[in-house]
Amino acid sequence: AEAALLEGFESTIAHNDRIEPRDWMPEGYRKTLVRQIAQHAHSEIIGMQPEGNWITRAPSLRRKAILLAKVQDEAGHGLYLYSACETLGTSRGELTEKLISGAQKYSSIFNYPTLSYADVGTIGWLVDGAAICNQVPLCRTSFGPYGRAMIRICKEESFHQRQGYELLMTMMRGTDEQRAMVQESVDRFWWPALMMFGPPDAESPNTAQSMAWGIKRNTNDDLRQRFVDMSVPQAEALGVTLPDPELKWNEERQAHDFGQPDWDEFMAVVRGNGPCNAQRIAHRRAAHEDGAWVREAALAFAARSHDTTTS
Ligand code: ACO
Repeated sequence: AEAALLEGFESTIAHNDRIEPRDWMPEGYRKTLVRQIAQHAHSEIIGMQPEGNWITRAPSLRRKAILLAKVQDEAGHGLYLYSACETLGTSRGELTEKLISGAQKYSSIFNYPTLSYADVGTIGWLVDGAAICNQVPLCRTSFGPYGRAMIRICKEESFHQRQGYELLMTMMRGTDEQRAMVQESVDRFWWPALMMFGPPDAESPNTAQSMAWGIKRNTNDDLRQRFVDMSVPQAEALGVTLPDPELKWNEERQAHDFGQPDWDEFMAVVRGNGPCNAQRIAHRRAAHEDGAWVREAALAFAARSHDTTTS
């Protein structure tokens, strides 16, 4: 019986059809999806912190309204993704526990501090730009609920990317001091943005199997290349320099050659030793504990409504 089920699963994957929550799936497929979707959801939630840091200090009402909307969108993305993950037989409570105990990861990028308002623009341009590059192909991922969540998320990410680019463009038309702020911010975020795509293919233990299952549609290095090629003309239009002396157009490959990020730094951040890891988790843990009364009240209310409807 198992062999027939596996055959059905493999044929769905081979036809590029979607696997849905009630379909049979190999345990490894389920585990990989829970790992990736949970990590993705946690990234959205932790990702609210670096930018949330600037909401009370936005330079104008317009900038504040944009930033507030953006940070709220990230919360929404986290919720769609936790819901997609719950269809695989886990719960949001369990996933939150795993985030705050360090058992599950979130993207390395959110462990870097936001030191100036230009960082809000740079995060929109480069970090959300990298996220779009990585996530557009995930709209075609083989697991239905994940792919459908990605479609909505990508639409909103495009808005996030545009607001960041527009913010930086405005600053670049400003004073020398503002232009210097933008350049300094780009210098700090460029390499961490390249790290978002994960380790080089040769050191990525999960890529081959995830591609065979149609969970990932491209390798880490392919997407990193796509991102570099996309960013270079945008940097030129903006008037900033990307901090990579090895960056240059390769006529033969019809793509840019570029330098490698510091992979030791990446590993340190992923293991919990980046500049803000401890602060991010402590903040998330405190928010979860502060919200305990809301969860209790909601449960008590649900229990009481249940009593009145059944009695
Ligand atoms: N930050 C933290 N951990 C990472 C990162 C990163 N940038 N890149 C890779 N890792 C982890 C992987 O989770 C994996 O750890 P695990 O096996 O303990 O779970 C390990 O490093 C090895 O990497 P890979 O074998 O390459 O892992 P994978 O095939 O899962 O690829 C990738 C990593 C590309 C991030 C993939 O999981 C993915 O596409 N995820 C969905 C997108 C996402 O999570 N985006 C979040 C940031 S964007 C945003 O929120 C705005």
